[in-house]
Amino acid sequence: MQKPLTLGIAGLGTVGAGLLQLLDQHKDRLAERVGRQLRVGGVSARTRNKDRGVGLEGVAWFDDPVALATDPGIDVFVELIGGSDGVAKAAVEAALKAGKPVVTANKALIAEHGLALARLAEEKGVALNFEAAVAGGIPVIKTLRESLSANVVRRVYGILNGTCNYILTTMTEEQRSFDEVLKEAQARGYAEADPTFDIGGFDTAHKLAILTSLAFGTEIAFDEIHVEGIESITQADIEAAEDMGYRIKLLGVAMKTASGIEARVHPAMVHRDSAIAEVSGVTNAVAIDADFCGSLLLIGPGAGAHPTASAVAGDIVDIARGSLVAPFLTPTASLKPYKRTKLGEHQGAYYVRLSVYDRPGAIASIAKRMGDREVSIESIVQRRPPGMGAKRAPGAPALVVMITHETTEEAMRLAVDAIEQDGKVSERPQVIRIEKLNGDDRS
Ligand code: NDP
Ligand code: HSE
Repeated sequence: MQKPLTLGIAGLGTVGAGLLQLLDQHKDRLAERVGRQLRVGGVSARTRNKDRGVGLEGVAWFDDPVALATDPGIDVFVELIGGSDGVAKAAVEAALKAGKPVVTANKALIAEHGLALARLAEEKGVALNFEAAVAGGIPVIKTLRESLSANVVRRVYGILNGTCNYILTTMTEEQRSFDEVLKEAQARGYAEADPTFDIGGFDTAHKLAILTSLAFGTEIAFDEIHVEGIESITQADIEAAEDMGYRIKLLGVAMKTASGIEARVHPAMVHRDSAIAEVSGVTNAVAIDADFCGSLLLIGPGAGAHPTASAVAGDIVDIARGSLVAPFLTPTASLKPYKRTKLGEHQGAYYVRLSVYDRPGAIASIAKRMGDREVSIESIVQRRPPGMGAKRAPGAPALVVMITHETTEEAMRLAVDAIEQDGKVSERPQVIRIEKLNGDDRS
């Protein structure tokens, strides 16, 4: 048996503690599989005496993760602290500069500095593995980087944030409030330290930026992604979606278009009988359309201590076996500059919820504004606002929900601007894109 592979683990929170448990529980099995012991040589966290649920006797403690990353006794540095800058970045850079392979679960770091870090890793000829950074326990990085490496990918999309999916599913199934369900997601360890990263769509955008680079061989471009979060989704939208045969999901979508790459994160309507609509709770799903392989859908746990630790440990096993792949599949020198498709060119159908002053001619005027921009209405329903009885003051706003036929984002935006300016609605209309999924022939 070869000499043990010594790990330095920085960050002993949800994921770090999960990893310590896995390494302890599967110690002998892992040694058998890779032909060497995986041993924890040093750890770092903020608070030394916290109970991590696993004994750390004989393991060196480092107050400073950078010192751990460069310690000569460490073979592999595992970064599980989080954050795109600060100590996590400093430690990963230091480890790579010292010629040590790195494993990280940190999507913010990879999405924002992945290119520079990958260059450094390539220069030093060491691995930079980040399977856990996208969709927790789902092996989507390996799928793109290894299994589909001989394909041309046309589109990659999915539910990439467990917290948002948990919130939307629970709001749908239990009619509970956004705030209450968010607190529950935080208590269960799904949400990021700052949950606005989750609900604002930025966590999904970080993951999508990584997938986009791997899928299309482009430089990573987190800032070029269009991002909308789930904060504006109300019970009225959730109920209207159900009535019209849809579910609302926060999706990240990246696809090649004639003019570049369209990458967007936003709440989307998906048909209720699609596989993605059935993905509930903290579960994530990633769909990939590839030319030779066809369409794949990977579904699994996107967050939580054990699934994420499983992905981190898989990356460590690869290093222990001596496997070395370019971090973004295409070596950094050959990655193409990212070229963004204008969102106005996006084509699709839309859900529109309007709060319309209930007066003669209001709908006619709205329909005219849509027609002026060649936006064709597929269905329209006037609903009683939630919590409101049959009696409503004359002219008080009524809830009107419509679904359009396919149109462009630009036409839709201009129509909605004109409707708002006409003063027939009491607030800016809610517009949600309807996503056409693999195998979905409906709009
Ligand atoms: P936690 O907040 O639970 O843990 C963070 C850890 O980092 C803690 O142990 C903390 O120490 C330690 N830490 C913070 N600052 C420092 C510092 N300056 N020096 C040393 N240690 C420090 O985060 P998670 O475990 O949830 O997440 C870790 C990473 O994994 C993040 O990048 C996250 O995005 C990613 N990830 C998380 C998933 C999840 O389900 N939670 C899923 C997929 C990825 P202490 O414990 O003493 O406070
Ligand atoms: N906060 C993230 C989520 C953790 O909710 O999906 C996994 O990346």
